[in-house]
Amino acid sequence: MMLRSSVFVSSLVAAVSAHQNFHQFWVNDVSPGYQVAIRMPPSNSPVTDVTSDDIACNVNGSITPSGVETYAANEGDKITVNWDISSHPGPITHFLFGPVDDASQASGIGAGWFKIDELDYQNGTWANEVVGNNGGNYTFSLPTGLESGDYLLRSEMLALHGAQTVGGAQFYIGCAQLKITGTGGGCSPTISLPGAYNAEDDNIYIPDVYNGFDPTTYSAPGGSVAVCGASGSTPATTTKAAQLSSSAAALPTSVVANATAITTPSSTAQAASSLSSSAPVSFPTSPLASSSASVPAGTAPSASAPSTFATITSSSALPTSTSASSSGTVALYGQCGGINYTGATQCASGSTCKVQNDYYSQCVSA
Ligand SMILES: *[C@@H]1O[C@H](CO)[C@@H](O)[C@H](O)[C@H]1NC(C)=O
Ligand SMILES: *[C@@H]1O[C@H](CO)[C@@H](O)[C@H](O)[C@H]1NC(C)=O
Ligand SMILES: *[C@@H]1O[C@H](CO)[C@@H](O)[C@H](O)[C@H]1NC(C)=O
Ligand SMILES: *[C@@H]1O[C@H](CO)[C@@H](O)[C@H](O)[C@H]1NC(C)=O
Ligand SMILES: *[C@@H]1O[C@H](CO)[C@@H](O)[C@H](O)[C@H]1NC(C)=O
Repeated sequence: MMLRSSVFVSSLVAAVSAHQNFHQFWVNDVSPGYQVAIRMPPSNSPVTDVTSDDIACNVNGSITPSGVETYAANEGDKITVNWDISSHPGPITHFLFGPVDDASQASGIGAGWFKIDELDYQNGTWANEVVGNNGGNYTFSLPTGLESGDYLLRSEMLALHGAQTVGGAQFYIGCAQLKITGTGGGCSPTISLPGAYNAEDDNIYIPDVYNGFDPTTYSAPGGSVAVCGASGSTPATTTKAAQLSSSAAALPTSVVANATAITTPSSTAQAASSLSSSAPVSFPTSPLASSSASVPAGTAPSASAPSTFATITSSSALPTSTSASSSGTVALYGQCGGINYTGATQCASGSTCKVQNDYYSQCVSA
């Protein structure tokens, strides 16, 4: 408990970067471009009023037509998002809104959102650190069992460093527009934005965030990750099926029609694969590993973030992997030292290792 708390606090002390935006995404490693198909907000400041319409798609993110193009994807596709790197601890979550006929005409305000991916605190590491250690990238999969149509993809990074006061949590949000081809089926549970978040929810207002809070107990706002294409014909999906029917009123009509109609065994498989495909994070470890092996330390471009994946796991949970990781360089904002830390200690070119406290040293701009 004490150690976990110290991990949290040490991240907070590392006040290097602050505000952030979601700038780019890739579908199976192909991107429409920098700030393309994303509703870019006018600034990189956070939303803090969870009752504001801005909580859906950030400031001015609900203006229609959005003036932003809609990019094609298939259900189950690998999505990588790229965010500005932040040292503020907190989760990353992804939601879809839809299906709608035309994403550029969807405000995203109100009912019809469902969570498709969530990473909170794992292996002694907050999601923001995982993102930072991957050069701002975070990868997850679209669920299977989606109705074909346009969707808003909402990426949220919640910074908890001010969460000890009501209204202090900082929501960084960006919405992309996707045209998804799916095999059909509804997703449940769905939520409303604004509506689902309350300023005093125990994952938004955390009075003891600097004083005993256990990050391993944390889960991000917005409820559970939705199940899509669910049939409810097996014990494992019965509960989800019950949620599906109880929340049916909130779903768009076409989704309800399909969600209630699907009862075949094959849709059970869809539900199962949808669950596994939404499991947290895959990492592009092999490209990073190979680039760190072939590029001499010190000359590597800082964005290539060589062996920092290994440094994530080295903090405590996976000591066996640490010997391989202690060579190479640490990306900007990655950990480079601290008690019992055995990962790489050399910061990427342009950054330097700075002691934050006994437990945590971090690469910061030189
Ligand atoms: C939001 O959009 C409106 C209308 O286009 C514009 O007048 C306003 O300046 C925008 N707000 C910000 C913060 O950019
Ligand atoms: C945490 O460790 C497990 C087991 O090695 C791994 O599967 C998972 O991807 C790790 N999570 C993160 C965020 O690194
Ligand atoms: C992010 O992921 C994309 C897609 O795989 C890749 O092309 C890009 O180089 C990555 N960026 C960083 C900083 O790792
Ligand atoms: C339900 O999904 C099927 C594909 O599985 C699609 O052909 C059909 O049009 C959908 N029905 C409605 C009402 O959306
Ligand atoms: C460092 O590791 C040792 C041996 O596993 C352990 O006893 C000690 O509590 C650790 N110290 C910290 C600060 O985690």
